[in-house]
Order: sequence, then structure tokens, then C-alpha cells
Amino acid sequence: MSKIKTTFFCQNCGTQHAKWQGQCSACKEWNTLVEEVIQKTAPKSWDSSLPDENSLSRKRAPQPQRISEIDATESPRLDTTNAEFNRVLGGGLVPGSITLLGGEPGIGKSTLLLQVCLNLPYKTLYVSGEESAQQIKMRADRIKQKVDHCYILTETKTQNIFRQISEVQPEVLIIDSIQTLQTDHIESTAGSVSQIKECTSELIKFAKETNTPVLLIGHITKDGNIAGPKILEHMVDTVLQFEGDRNHTYRILRALKNRFGSTHEIGIYEMLGYGLREVINPSEILISQRGISLSGTAIAATMEGMRPLMIEVQALVSTAVYGTPQRSATGYNLKRLNMILAVLEKRAGFKLGQKDVFLNITGGITVDDPAIDLAVVAAILSSNFDIALSSQHCFSAEVGLGGEIRPVSRMEQRVHEASKLGFEKVFIAPAKLDFKNTGTNVQTFTKIEDLVRYLFS
Ligand code: TYD
Ligand code: MG
Repeated sequence: MSKIKTTFFCQNCGTQHAKWQGQCSACKEWNTLVEEVIQKTAPKSWDSSLPDENSLSRKRAPQPQRISEIDATESPRLDTTNAEFNRVLGGGLVPGSITLLGGEPGIGKSTLLLQVCLNLPYKTLYVSGEESAQQIKMRADRIKQKVDHCYILTETKTQNIFRQISEVQPEVLIIDSIQTLQTDHIESTAGSVSQIKECTSELIKFAKETNTPVLLIGHITKDGNIAGPKILEHMVDTVLQFEGDRNHTYRILRALKNRFGSTHEIGIYEMLGYGLREVINPSEILISQRGISLSGTAIAATMEGMRPLMIEVQALVSTAVYGTPQRSATGYNLKRLNMILAVLEKRAGFKLGQKDVFLNITGGITVDDPAIDLAVVAAILSSNFDIALSSQHCFSAEVGLGGEIRPVSRMEQRVHEASKLGFEKVFIAPAKLDFKNTGTNVQTFTKIEDLVRYLFS
């Protein structure tokens, strides 16, 4: 009997080691090596278990081609009929591409891909290793669409999946989740580094050889990375992340890597009882109560990728009960909040040192755009003075350590969005731009003190 062969794989980068060691010599991470059983057998192609006449890979062994003879006209992308999904992909699914969708458990990855799958006007195969066909059917019924071209397969062995593929001949393949797949060529358990690597490379070969787009769902680990080796993200063409707060209904789809488009685009969805609704005009829903002016609320004109987004910032400033005042921020960087409070104290003379400050971005989203700074300042001071700001005003500028108000990128787009949504005044840093034809009053300031004097006196 042959001896069982084992090796050690780094769970972080996927490097193989002959023996155990505390630190991975490739990525220098500690305690990431795990022993896995491997037993490689000769056949490695995705359709090697099929009879010869069905094998596509053996029929089409690639030949070297002159570069001048390669047809570079882009094959048309498949329209997913989901505008937000298309946007994030860069205009639709590229034939033969592999897309990985990651996200926390319960965020709606299966729902999103099932919905895309049901809406695609092509023959699709949805392979699930996690749920039964009945469960998927129940979900499909919730999404309320009756279609005939969508096939469901509950299977985890890649060889069996490829056998079914050669029968069904789907035009789009969806795998829910890559961590549940297992190939016969390797003996380690499903979800281990070697299995994930091997199954993914089989699927990549399948996608490239048959020009079928493949969508994979990937689990993520506690610290938010896609489970399995980093190498998985290198292998695929596109990495998407589905994120949002599970207690809020909004979900954001982002591209972390995209070989066929930009990574700046985002898609916004709302999770409803009947699946995910595409949010075409996000600014309107992120602003909770238009028309009512409350103290401590300010609106920021931010950009998420290429899309302008109006976001509501809420602040609460109250007298500290304990010796150490509390500072808390939801959806905004706490360090940046502390910096802004220090600037307000030092440059504008506000005694916020003895105050508790709470900051919240409504809608459960997180903002990194520095243009939100000015709205944060306005919200904090508005709550501090208990004077409401007009709900017809919005802010868009970065605040520097000297209390100076600095310009941000894409000012025209932000001002244009503000005017489109009916804001009467936009507060920004001085910019050499002409906003005359935007229909909105643009007010520029260079220092926080001037803005404060203008707003609160
Ligand atoms: P799911 O797609 O199973 O998440 P994942 O695959 O990322 O783990 O979605 C889970 C949540 O979505 C679940 O808590 C219920 C909710 N949901 C709705 O609110 N409405 C719906 O129509 C569907 C199908 C799910
Ligand atoms: Mg799922």
C-alpha cells in the first residue's frame, strides 16, 4: 500500500512546505501552516473523466499563433439585466471569465447570484454545495420569477459537476461556494487550501476552454478576507465583495479586482422580502428626513467610486458624565473624528474636550471619502449649539490640521448631483471652477472659523 503523502500549506498565501514551521517562509505570517493529505493523480483536465468524444480540451489543444493574427475584437459581454451588477463588472459578464463573490455569511451572496441567474436570458447552471434543491426553489419562489432555463444541481464533486455540465451545456455557471467543492485528484478535505486551489484551477480551465463565464461564491474569514489562500484572488479575473450591515437593508457590491473594468464602481441594493432591489438613485434613500431640519444633522456630497452620493451625517454632542469623555463613530473613522475634534478645539476655540461626541452615518454604510469632513464639522457644531442647519444645504470638503478647508476631487459632479436633488446651497473649498450653470448656490470658505461664523451667528 502506498504511503499517505502529506504536506503543509500556508493558509494565507498557499505556499507548500515539506515540514511544519512556525512562520511561513513566503509570506512571513505566523502559525498559518496546516497539514493536508495530498495524492496527485495524473489526469488534471476538468473533463478528463469524460469519454474522449465529449472532451473539449483534448479536441482543442492550443497552437501558437502569430500575434498579428490574433483576433483582438472584444467578444460581446453578456448583459445580466441587473444594472448595478453590470456596472460593477464593467458592463456585463465577459465570456470565459471567472468572478469570485465574497461576503459575510447571511449578507445575501446566494440571493444575489440566484437572482442574477434567474434573470439571465441564457441557460444557466446553479451548483450548490450548501443548500438542498428545495431550499433553493423556496428562495427562487420568494424572488418570484418563473423561468425554465435555470438548472439547479446539488453536488460538491467537481468531476460529477463537469459530467452534468457536458449534458446540460450551460452558458453561465454559478458555484455556491468554492469552499464546498472537492476534486478526486486531491485527497484533502473540502475547504482546505489544496482543494480550493485545485478546484479553482479546474474551473478556470473549463471557463477558458469553453468560453463560459463562471461565478464563484467564496466565504470570508473573521477578519474579512476571502477564506482560503490569497492565491485564489490572483487566479480569478474579478473579485467582488458584497458588504453592508446585516441589521440594515442596504447592501453595497464592490469590485476589489477587475481584469475587465474599473474597481471604482459600486452597486447598491436593498434587501427586501422578495429579494434584492436595485437602488438606482441612492442619494434619495440615504437621506432620512428631507425637509425636516434637526440639530446635529448635516448632508455631505461624497463620491463612491464614480458615483456621487449624498450622505447624511448625524452627530450628538453632550456633556460628559464620566471623567473621560466618550467618542464613538459609526461608518466614519474614529481616528479622523478625534482629529477633527482636536482641530475644532485648537483652531476654532470650541471646548469639546469635556463633551461626549457620537457620530453616525445613516443607512449603515461606511464612508472613506475625505469630502465628508466638512459635514462632520457642521453636524458636530450644530449639535453643540443646538442650532439646526437647513436641510437644503450640503457640504463637500476636506478639513486639514490647520483648520483649513481643502478642495476635493470631482467637484463639478458633486455640485451637479446636489443641484439635481434640489439642494439650494453647497459649501465647498475655493476652486477654480465655474458653477454658474448648475443652478445651485455655491459658497466657498477657506477656514473653519469663517464657515462657523456664517452658519451659526
Ligand atoms: P443568503 O443569500 O442566504 O446569504 P449568504 O449566501 O450570503 O449567506 O441571504 C440570507 C439573508 O437574506 C437571510 O437572512 C434572509 C434574507 N433574505 C431576504 O431578506 N429576502 C429575500 O427575498 C431572501 C431570498 C433572503
Ligand atoms: Mg449562501
